[in-house]
Amino acid sequence: LVLVVDFGAQYAQLIARRVREAKVYSEIVPHDMPVAEMLAREPKAIILSGGPSSVYERGAPAIDPGLVDADVPVFGICYGFMAMAQALGGTVSRTGQREYGRTRVSVLEPGTLLDGVPGELVSWMSHGDEVTAAPAGFTVNARSPRATVAAFEDVDRRLAGVQWHPEVMHSEHGQAVLEHFLHDIAGCQPTWTMVNIVEEQVEAIQAAIGPAGRAICGLSGGVDSAVAAALVQRAIGDRLTCVYVDHGLMRQGETEQIERDFVAATGADLVVVDAEERFLSALAGVVEPEEKRKIIGREFIRVFEQAQADVVAREPGAVDFLVQGTLYPDVVESGGGTGASTIKSHHNVGGLPDDIEFTLVEPLRTLFKDEVRLVGEQLGLPADIVWRHPFPGPGLGIRIIGAVDRERLDILRAADAIAREELTRAGLDRGIWQFPVVLLADVRSVGVQGDGRTYGHPVVLRPVTSEDAMTADWARVPYEVLETISTRITNEVDEINRVTLDITSKPPGTIEWE
Ligand code: XMP
Repeated sequence: LVLVVDFGAQYAQLIARRVREAKVYSEIVPHDMPVAEMLAREPKAIILSGGPSSVYERGAPAIDPGLVDADVPVFGICYGFMAMAQALGGTVSRTGQREYGRTRVSVLEPGTLLDGVPGELVSWMSHGDEVTAAPAGFTVNARSPRATVAAFEDVDRRLAGVQWHPEVMHSEHGQAVLEHFLHDIAGCQPTWTMVNIVEEQVEAIQAAIGPAGRAICGLSGGVDSAVAAALVQRAIGDRLTCVYVDHGLMRQGETEQIERDFVAATGADLVVVDAEERFLSALAGVVEPEEKRKIIGREFIRVFEQAQADVVAREPGAVDFLVQGTLYPDVVESGGGTGASTIKSHHNVGGLPDDIEFTLVEPLRTLFKDEVRLVGEQLGLPADIVWRHPFPGPGLGIRIIGAVDRERLDILRAADAIAREELTRAGLDRGIWQFPVVLLADVRSVGVQGDGRTYGHPVVLRPVTSEDAMTADWARVPYEVLETISTRITNEVDEINRVTLDITSKPPGTIEWE
């Protein structure tokens, strides 16, 4: 275990991911966690992340000297580097000179940290102060125009640091630097692999659920719930029941992927609830987006809880565990630890208990999305599920602008399937975050096809790139691919006679249209 101490910059998660890419397991802890508590977790190394740009900034967190005296390897990055220099008796000067963004770093003495990297490298900097003298016993490995000491190491004491951000993509050889610290200075073994994750998680799930416990899992069709379910299935076999609510708002082939491919890959016990009628009647004539969302959310909870209750009632012996696909970023962002918690699931169905208590099982709580995908592959899930783009809970219901009905859903499903197929064929699907296709169901325009006049609907293509869906940019899909999609949609989907492209970033637009 490597602990990444978060000094409040946005880079801690990125550092934790890079450490794991070096095949060493890492977790993030807040900087105000007492050192004794950090050490009690017996970390093989500690990484101090970036943070405020100056150690002199008001309220800037200091580091507890106990951290660098504990005989645990420590690596300081950016702010962590300066804080470490100060704690160890080096000199940090307020120069008032800032160094931001791309910066050339010159290697003075490669040592262990910069072994094998070129004499000059481009790195990403973000600092105000400057380390002007390294602590006693340290070798100065590099300098930059505004950092007299840009990297240092004391291999005997297993301490090192860099002023730049080796974790960001723009820093050349960043991963190599990180790996030199982890593998060569700290002596961490590169053993964190997907095979090991699966084995560890299966054991942990077996221990949590016990030899006779039963669990239930809601499948949404997305990657997180599918991988969580597949892991639990591997651990407890048919003591897990999966529930999938088909609300009729899924895209072409998605329900079949779950019903057929997911079951074939995992052997899971799956209950599919066909609730299309129910959702479509509840949605009939509703145009306002928020109202659509509320209706879909409400119906979903009712149907899901009924299905849960049916599963519980089906066999004697309680179902005590509810499996959820919570990921590590959610855990970090909600400031949570790693324990299990109990939630209540309420329902108001005659003859059933008022509420059922479940203990949550969240086997993906320590994983990032890209790791979840690799675990999914390791478990043999189909690529269509593992690499699926994020898809909103309300499904195509919020991609039809206007009232939702089966005919409109079928039109949109046909157009959407073509767009996805061509994106995949062009090999672009993994580089694009999401590719909604939106049907403007209340708009018609005049067109000409063959010898006849048409009066059909437009669709909007909305391919976007993003890291986390908080911000997004419109994806520059090559013209040839857009052309194929446009031609195929207008030829193959009768009701559509126009294909348009949304070139709005987020903000000001959102990814979805409703
Ligand atoms: P927007 O449209 O707000 O979407 O830019 C951001 C991300 O969230 C997804 N999204 C949803 N996901 N339930 C969900 O589970 C919802 O109601 C919902 N609305 C939007 C959207 O697809 C994008 O990834």
